[in-house]
Amino acid sequence: MRVALVGLGTVGTGVIRLLDANRELIARRAGRPIEVRAVNARDRSRDRGVDIARFDWADDMMELARRDDIDVVVELIGGSDGPALALARAVLSAGKPLVTANKAMLAHHGLSLAKLAEQSGIPLKYEAAVAGGIPVIKGLREGAAANEISSVYGILNGTCNYILTTMEREGRDFNEVLKEAQELGYAEADPSFDADGIDAAHKLSILASLAFGTQIDFGAVDIGGIRSVSAADIREAAALGYRIRLVGVAENRADGLFQRVHAVLVPMHHPLASVEGSLNAVLAEGNFVGSLFFSGRGAGEGPTASAVVADLIDIARDEYGDPFAMQVEQLAKRPKANSGDT
Ligand code: HSE
Repeated sequence: MRVALVGLGTVGTGVIRLLDANRELIARRAGRPIEVRAVNARDRSRDRGVDIARFDWADDMMELARRDDIDVVVELIGGSDGPALALARAVLSAGKPLVTANKAMLAHHGLSLAKLAEQSGIPLKYEAAVAGGIPVIKGLREGAAANEISSVYGILNGTCNYILTTMEREGRDFNEVLKEAQELGYAEADPSFDADGIDAAHKLSILASLAFGTQIDFGAVDIGGIRSVSAADIREAAALGYRIRLVGVAENRADGLFQRVHAVLVPMHHPLASVEGSLNAVLAEGNFVGSLFFSGRGAGEGPTASAVVADLIDIARDEYGDPFAMQVEQLAKRPKANSGDT
């Protein structure tokens, strides 16, 4: 399967390293070899520590959507609109599968992209967009496939969790630890997306939509961040038996969908209190399965590249996932139980 990789930052170079390191195993599991055929990025000459000269360099990324020698395009540019969205639309319109880690784009345009994919009968895969290496999209789709889900919540931003837990352990200052999280490749290109809760809100709106079969409604998320949390707050919380975590919560309530991202006090005995460093964790409550708890590394090169390549393996195996946009539309057409005269 011939892949075009657009965007060669932390995740893009991670994908190349992973495909190189586990080449045979991946080919075995995918049923055929997966090879990068063409790449495109903003800067061709930057030293990334991987050899990209062996790939075909595409001067115009949009041409990748039309090329016959490319089977799948992987979009790792980022940004909700602009080039990433133009590329995603072109790829899906051309009938090519798309793999993306772009939570901002999905939070704003996920449903229209899913429709494009479903109309053409091709996969749009985005496991890497939410919670890095944790297979939470699959987990929700498959683990809770037969369930009514009442809530989905958790720690969805590795950078904030790294900052809060490092401040807690080492009593260090926010800005210093943020810099470290950037160096480790956890933070967004604009780290205010992390610190102000926007990235977690992007991910929450995607998860909520999957869990409840509703439209992705990023605009409805009430968003707070962690900038105002001080080392003293963390110490005082600990003295009272709590830890401070940035948590995203989505609940299906009688009066509608509730979505919020904010810094909360988590009791020490709660599973989210022991989620440390760049780890993420997601809990979902299903009416038959009970509580599902997913955890793992939510940011950084290795975990996010793992999720991207897992999506590529699914495509190679012709495992497409379920018709998401169709379900959202069917549910929206359904009369509400309590509407009308009753
Ligand atoms: N900046 C994101 C985070 C990267 O820290 O969680 C993974 O989506």
